[in-house]
Amino acid sequence: MCVRQNMRLIRKNPFAYRAAKLFFCEMSKSTLHIGLAGFGNVGAGVFKNIEKNRDLLRERTGRELVITKIAVRDPSKARDVELPADLVTTNLDDLINDDSIDLIVELIGGTDRAFELVKAALENGKTVVTGNKALLAERGQELFAIAAANHRPIFYEAAVAGGIPIIKTVQESLIGNHIQSVVGIINGTCNYILTRMTEAGLDYPEALKEAMALGYAEADPTLDVNGWDAAHKAIILASLSYGAWVPCDEIHVEGIEKIKAEDIDFAEKLGYTIKLLGVIQLHEKSGSIEVRVQPSLIPKGHILSSVKGVFNAIMVRGDIVGETLFYGSGAGQDPTSSSVIADIADAASRIDSETVKGIGETGFVSHGIYGKPLPLAESISKYYLRVEAEDRPGVLARIATVLGEHNIGILSVIQPEDHDEEIAPIVLTLHYAPFGIVQDAISKISAMDCIRDEPALLRVEDVR
Ligand code: HSE
Repeated sequence: MCVRQNMRLIRKNPFAYRAAKLFFCEMSKSTLHIGLAGFGNVGAGVFKNIEKNRDLLRERTGRELVITKIAVRDPSKARDVELPADLVTTNLDDLINDDSIDLIVELIGGTDRAFELVKAALENGKTVVTGNKALLAERGQELFAIAAANHRPIFYEAAVAGGIPIIKTVQESLIGNHIQSVVGIINGTCNYILTRMTEAGLDYPEALKEAMALGYAEADPTLDVNGWDAAHKAIILASLSYGAWVPCDEIHVEGIEKIKAEDIDFAEKLGYTIKLLGVIQLHEKSGSIEVRVQPSLIPKGHILSSVKGVFNAIMVRGDIVGETLFYGSGAGQDPTSSSVIADIADAASRIDSETVKGIGETGFVSHGIYGKPLPLAESISKYYLRVEAEDRPGVLARIATVLGEHNIGILSVIQPEDHDEEIAPIVLTLHYAPFGIVQDAISKISAMDCIRDEPALLRVEDVR
């Protein structure tokens, strides 16, 4: 019997008609209609893994998660996961203007088109899931204002550290804590490069080449190696932890491009490992927030120094919980899509309700409990300094004099005997000092006639 005949019969029977109406109404309520923008590595992973675990997701969320449209730039592009031709559009407006779509998953990357997409989605009453760290770090403040005006949330677990559930941890699990610090290895590409420099003795260009050949680094690895990929993640974590968007130009960002094999060796001799770290710290007295990303020396025995290869790890310290540590894959199709799917499931449970689960109405709770970002010049740590100096009497004394004049104490000095005849590396570790004062001293040391090359200055972190 065809559907039309069935419907005719149902319409004739008032009880069957009422039951069918109820059934279809319940069905449509329990289906979450998703518009997927982007079918790159992560987008394809989301599609593939929702299909893979569909039954489990239905049981756990009480909803059918249905991707009803997929927007891509180029449908003909070769892909590992087959693009379902019946769902494809090349026009983002087809997602935004489709009233049946409840939720838009933004995985197109970039900041301009993605901003317009997220804005329009929220204004059209749709919930948004995004994995776009640059978008949130640069324009999060604007986007959450739009989310608030339209009473729709933005979920963004996949924007920080791929598969590690760090966003929901800070939003929900640690909601009762003042976050005292967040210190993490949040760029897998840099961690891979530094691991290979440490363990295989490669120099930076060789290790980068290897990371690219293995597909760990992007085709254009600039944002990875210059620290900005990690910085975007640090900005999101800091803003979330402290309830105010940290401006991109108020944090300190340094990449790993200038790290030399000899710095790795000297660090090793001194008992340290070099890691690209995101450091977020609350200064309890002033309430100011320190946010910085840079290659730092951490003690070899510290747990973060055992995080190797492309893995990420984040330590969060809260005033009630104490120290916590999260470890896992910070990138890749499956880990990152796991986070996107978690957000979709979260959205599915909130979409018809005003239930607030730690994330407020929008996914970001703004408040004025803490102070402003700490000016970089005031940030205090210990340091590693390597200078290439002419090997003649008085040079070390001159360097020490400049440091002394700036009230910077010297913790240790190494000058290896087996160096070039004329130029010797001098490696010093320096006592706690404000970064501004250390920079001033280093610029005076650089200007000395006996110094060759730019000095290497790295932080020695006091990670507990
Ligand atoms: N390219 C990043 C990394 C992953 O290497 O960790 C995406 O942010």
